Amino acid sequence: MRIWLLLFILATGVMADAAPQLNEKFGESSKCKPCHAEKVKEWSGSWHANSHYKSDEYLRKSIDYVGRKSRKSHNAIKVQCAACHNPRITVIKTGADYEIQSVMKLDSLSEVNKALESDALNEGINCLVCHNVDKIDEHADASVRGAHRLKWNKVGIMSGPLDDAKSPYHKTQSRDFFKKKSDDLCYVCHANDRSEEGLVFANTQKEMKKSKKLCVDCHMSPHKMGFASNLPIDNKRPKKRMVREHGFVGAHTEWLWEGALSLSVQKKADKLLVTMKNENPHNIPTGFGARELILDITYKLGSKPIRQERMSLTQHYTDKRGKATIPHLATTATKDFSVPAYGTKTVTLTPPKNAGSVSIALSYRLVNDEVRGLLDLEEEIWSKKMLIDKIGIRL
Ligand code: HEC
Ligand code: HEC
Ligand code: HEC
Ligand code: HEC
Ligand code: HEC
Repeated sequence: MRIWLLLFILATGVMADAAPQLNEKFGESSKCKPCHAEKVKEWSGSWHANSHYKSDEYLRKSIDYVGRKSRKSHNAIKVQCAACHNPRITVIKTGADYEIQSVMKLDSLSEVNKALESDALNEGINCLVCHNVDKIDEHADASVRGAHRLKWNKVGIMSGPLDDAKSPYHKTQSRDFFKKKSDDLCYVCHANDRSEEGLVFANTQKEMKKSKKLCVDCHMSPHKMGFASNLPIDNKRPKKRMVREHGFVGAHTEWLWEGALSLSVQKKADKLLVTMKNENPHNIPTGFGARELILDITYKLGSKPIRQERMSLTQHYTDKRGKATIPHLATTATKDFSVPAYGTKTVTLTPPKNAGSVSIALSYRLVNDEVRGLLDLEEEIWSKKMLIDKIGIRL
């Protein structure tokens, strides 16, 4: 009886194994470059490629901050975050035994430290993260994300959208989650991001409304004529295919913010109603906590500015003791300010009585002042304002 139970558990609980160790042939994206030059180039500029302790200042300082403030060791936090930021990690859980080793400084040769030092992680979410996935566990609890939701293929088998791909370098395998169901691949990580205290602060999957477009239509590119591989496999030429760009453009890319929301202004008695409209299928902003929308308002008399105001729309996070903190350590958050999918959000302004006109600019910032201060973020990108829309009217 027991043996059957054990076999049953083994058969149903096969998800959530750590990723197999990558070998020389398949470790890094540079190995794919000779035959997938375009893909490697496009992906290299993406923030998926930057999703690593060494390459993203915001991620690094957040991990360090959580490490300092929580009882777990710094490396245990790194393993935890790696589930989505570096899912090729070969250890996905750490236990009490590791904490003891770590306190006694006996962990340098441990599996955990070896896994964290592996070169395969430097590239964050690279080709082998998405294209070596065999299955996604659709039935796992909503809190189970990233590597914990994935079953990996053997190293050397690439899954993708093509039914008839043949490669001299690797085996290929077609999978639904690279075709019409590619949103499911994105939801492995872009859903249910939660704090140490269980507060969900990001959930693009939950926000997503019915849409004709997939995530990849807007964040990769629409299907276009090109080739999957530059290898001359079709009468001495690369085989023509419908493909998508691999740039994964998003919140760090200034041009994508242009027109992401549109502004309108309405006069009502002595007030001004400023409405932000979102025509996208998820909230704007979506994703990570502490993002910010900024309204810069200038009232003028003739051409002379008479008053300037700034309104910050963002969320503030507090810890158990009621102190300001970062999303990952929060027990509570202030009200969601994001503009809902296919919806609007309106704020009310009171203009000075003598104002003749008003101009309003709406922009976005990756990190609000509070969290930037807590983490001491230095790189310019975190405080840079990216323009979304502007409008001016006579009063
Ligand atoms: C975040 C996940 C993700 C990462 C990382 C990623 N891809 Fe893809 N890739 C996809 C998706 C999704 C498609 C299918 C797009 C479609 O056709 O709808 C795809 C398609 C492809 C295709 C088939 C041609 C095409 O464009 O449809 C090739 C070849 C490919 N990827 C290679 C690579 C290489 C090489 C890398 C690393 C430089 C890489 N991919 C990184 C998600 C990813
Ligand atoms: C020696 C050349 C070569 C190398 C190196 C190579 N590939 Fe390929 N790959 C190909 C060819 C050829 C195809 C098929 C193209 C076609 O049929 O249009 C292909 C197809 C693919 C596909 C599409 C599979 C499908 O079923 O949709 C993916 C994904 C892919 N490769 C990923 C990778 C990754 C990731 C690497 C690096 C670890 C890599 N390849 C290295 C030649 C190569
Ligand atoms: C293995 C987990 C994982 C998967 C699968 C994944 N992502 Fe991501 N994605 C991330 C993480 C982590 C980041 C944040 C990286 C950073 O900024 O350090 C991110 C960032 C992004 C961004 C923001 C980029 C920017 O510049 O702000 C976009 C857009 C995005 N992903 C789209 C997608 C799409 C589309 C898919 C599905 C084809 C997908 N992702 C699949 C984990 C994942
Ligand atoms: C109709 C186009 C469209 C579709 C479909 C779409 N997005 Fe977006 N997404 C946007 C726009 C516009 C923005 C805001 C501009 C920017 O990020 O530069 C955005 C922003 C994002 C960001 C960055 C948010 C931030 O502030 O950090 C992520 C992450 C993201 N989308 C993920 C997804 C995922 C995952 C899906 C599929 C479930 C998806 N998007 C589907 C248009 C789209
Ligand atoms: C459930 C998967 C998941 C886990 C686990 C996870 N993240 Fe993320 N993280 C994401 C995704 C997806 C994004 C991108 C969302 C966006 O662009 O708005 C992201 C973005 C971020 C960003 C913003 C990066 C940037 O460049 O703007 C930081 C900082 C971050 N995560 C820190 C952490 C830390 C610290 C941990 C561990 C304590 C962690 N994350 C664990 C999925 C995850």
